[in-house]
Amino acid sequence: MEKVYGVIGCPIAHSMSPEMHNDLFDFYQLQSRYHAFHIEPEKLSDAIKGFKAIGVSGFNVTVPHKIAILDLLDEVEAVALNIGAVNTVVNEEGRLVGYNTDGQGYIHSIKQKMNQSLEQSRVLLIGAGGAARAIYITLASIGVLNVDIVNRTKEKAVELIGSCQYKNSSTALTIKEVEQALGQYDLIINTTSIGMHPHVEESPISLENLSENTVVSDIIYNPLKTKLLKDAEQKGATIDNGIGMFVNQGALAFEKWTGIFPDTTRMETVVKKKLGG
Ligand code: ATR
Repeated sequence: MEKVYGVIGCPIAHSMSPEMHNDLFDFYQLQSRYHAFHIEPEKLSDAIKGFKAIGVSGFNVTVPHKIAILDLLDEVEAVALNIGAVNTVVNEEGRLVGYNTDGQGYIHSIKQKMNQSLEQSRVLLIGAGGAARAIYITLASIGVLNVDIVNRTKEKAVELIGSCQYKNSSTALTIKEVEQALGQYDLIINTTSIGMHPHVEESPISLENLSENTVVSDIIYNPLKTKLLKDAEQKGATIDNGIGMFVNQGALAFEKWTGIFPDTTRMETVVKKKLGG
């Protein structure tokens, strides 16, 4: 019997996940289909009960359900619990188990761009919202100790560091502080929405003091090259856009469902086509 997978969100119509996963199910000749389900927040609990009743094999979770879903699952893995958000659910013999592949997806992707060990790197994270949490806690969970956080609201960065259950030597900084000391970082990651379409002329920080040895990464993929990345490129730094994180969070979810770590180059092609080349 065909297996059913999907993504739940609100809104969800523009999700690229169905095309990405259905292409993989076809490519690996698996009798499975992936659907987008628009679920209003007040219907989430009923929807999850329904998924369980009909035996949905697994699903992704996106905004605004990533936090609320935690209480509706049978089990949540430790890192996702510390993040406080789930983006992937696996139906394990009738029990719904929650994972977070966002941070791992990011790490998987960025490792391919770094020519030094991520664990030894000095990292600057810009932002302290949901996306920052996933990346920060996952980095700490794999032993990346030196991750500083800069956020418009510094208290939120302090809170994020304080909530991390894994060993770290992080500092919360102001934008002014980091702009002056930018040269010390091996990797800079923008997790805020600054620079996202249609505000393409905005950038979260000035890169005047950037070193060309730094990798500058933006989790935004629309546009593919944000102002931050353009500025970094002008400084001679290596740049990395949000396609890698998106594709790899999906690849890790696919692996949890099927046991196959899929061809991420193939996934990238589908996503780039969907984004308009
Ligand atoms: P997400 O789940 O996508 O990470 P979020 O949880 O709303 O979204 O977090 C948004 C992040 O972008 C926050 O770090 C936010 O900073 P504040 O904590 O100060 O609100 C940051 N952000 C969004 N718009 C911003 C702006 N115009 N200037 C500076 N920071 C901004």
